[in-house]
Amino acid sequence: MSSSEASDVALTVAPDLEPQAAWRGDGAAVVFDEPGCRAALESLDRPFTVVRIGDRVGIASADAGPGASDGPDRGDLLAPAPALPSGRLGDPGFRADHGVSLAYMAGAMANGIASEELVIALGRDGLLGSFGAAGLVPARIDEAIARIRQALPDGPCVFNLIHSPSEEALERAAVELYLARGVRTIEASAFLRMTPHLVRYRVAGLEEAPDGSVVARNRVIAKLSRREIATHFLLPAPAAMLRDLAEAGWITGRQAQLAERVPLADDITVEADSGGHTDNRPLGVLFPSIVALRDELQAHHRYARMTRVGAAGGIGSPAAVVAALAMGAAYVVTGSVNQACVEAETSPHVRSLLALAEFPDVAMAPAADMFELGVDVQVLKRGTMFPMRARRLYELYQRHASLEEIPTSDRQRLERQLFGRPLEAVWDAVVDYFSERDPAQLERAADDPKRRMALVFRWYLGLASRWANTGEPGRELDYQIWCGPAMGSFNDWVRGSALEPPEARRVAVVGRALMNGAAYLARVFQLEAQGVRISEPLRAARPPVAAAKAASHAGVAREQSRTVELSA
Ligand SMILES: Cc1cc2nc3c(=O)[nH]c(=O)nc-3n(C[C@H](O)[C@H](O)[C@H](O)COP(=O)(O)O)c2cc1C
Repeated sequence: MSSSEASDVALTVAPDLEPQAAWRGDGAAVVFDEPGCRAALESLDRPFTVVRIGDRVGIASADAGPGASDGPDRGDLLAPAPALPSGRLGDPGFRADHGVSLAYMAGAMANGIASEELVIALGRDGLLGSFGAAGLVPARIDEAIARIRQALPDGPCVFNLIHSPSEEALERAAVELYLARGVRTIEASAFLRMTPHLVRYRVAGLEEAPDGSVVARNRVIAKLSRREIATHFLLPAPAAMLRDLAEAGWITGRQAQLAERVPLADDITVEADSGGHTDNRPLGVLFPSIVALRDELQAHHRYARMTRVGAAGGIGSPAAVVAALAMGAAYVVTGSVNQACVEAETSPHVRSLLALAEFPDVAMAPAADMFELGVDVQVLKRGTMFPMRARRLYELYQRHASLEEIPTSDRQRLERQLFGRPLEAVWDAVVDYFSERDPAQLERAADDPKRRMALVFRWYLGLASRWANTGEPGRELDYQIWCGPAMGSFNDWVRGSALEPPEARRVAVVGRALMNGAAYLARVFQLEAQGVRISEPLRAARPPVAAAKAASHAGVAREQSRTVELSA
């Protein structure tokens, strides 16, 4: 009978597997059944040994005396399994530098969706979260800094710096705020090129230690999905930019010199197919390519501290975490799964749509911020018509030179279904908005009817995500919900568990569950590499189960480990 057919046979080995040593101990304390083996595997902080007694293969816990020279029973020691708490996964340098217990981070989610509550909940649990500063005005970001600081005076926390090519003033203002408030770690994302603002943030934090080494007090975690962008972050700051910044008095001459000895980023998050802005690349292709680039540039520049490379995009299950770590990821970053958690600043309606999503329930749709360039974002398509409606707007934009050229029937449909008002009234709202925020946009549109059309269409795209976040009644079909396939993957994993209902999802619990699951799988793979075959049900890491459900299974150790996960 094969191991997958026999539910009571949890572990098997090839008959010719050579034992590593003789085993002697208490056979009564060796577990052979699936619940017992699962309990041992789930007790991540306890080592055990796979032993064979007669023709049965089972697990001897440390208490059963693995390898002990005395005891009533004799057998073969087949494979040791050291303790593997999830805190041992990933790069220890990431955990030490950012002051966290796991090599795990929740990435920023714009417009404060990655809220203060989200960052604080993670920080209190020793995990890293990035505040979703993109799209927020500096005064609102300042409030967030104050609130997060108050709750987490010593961190850990990160603030997003989003590249804003069309609203440069916002990028500059964010950097000035971060410097003024002493924000020590930023997640720099969407960069297409290096900007003086980012370089200023990094270099203004450089100091020389007494031993002559360079200390980077302003840490940069860069998120990207292209080699050419990675190159910018793996190189020292451009010399011309350093000169200009020093001349402007924003950095010192000494800091400009120190900047030649360090790369711009401490960490690079390689982002595969994800929610929101994405190039939809597979992690298995992108990640090794960026690591090879890092290695090449490190060999050339010989930095004292090598930039670490982490992984994001599509991470919604322990299997995805362990796959990223197996490729060499120093840490993992999630996004989509956190939006369905109670701390995310979005509406209950959005959270419940997300919790029902399956992995194919996502689609690419035109992005509000780079609409004219034809850039798309990944969004949820189940329960909302936003992707279709936004795509329709982009088609009209491509086909016509102005709003006036749009055929009457199309125009009427837009006014009725999408805008809920005449297009002239939308234009008035656009003028009100940009007069305050960025009048240059209106000046550029004054003699350019196509640009005017873009601004009107962007009004809808921009509001569609605000409606989703605030839960605007009557606008459910227009909700724009950034989401990647990781959401469906997570929902598959937690179906039937304590984490299935969205109201039970908490960011720190989700993060710990994913990392504990990954550690569980890593142990399974370690045993398999030693020749132990593990039954199919046991090969899967389980999500936390409700206490009542858990009590129906045997195994005190299992209950303990799962209670820890749930109470995180
Ligand atoms: C709702 C939402 C909003 C996002 N907004 C931002 C953002 O403003 N800045 C940013 O750097 N990344 C943003 N991201 C990307 C996440 O930080 C993270 O890198 C990504 O979601 C990881 O991929 P996953 O969605 O497959 O987990 C967003 C993602 C989502 C789902």
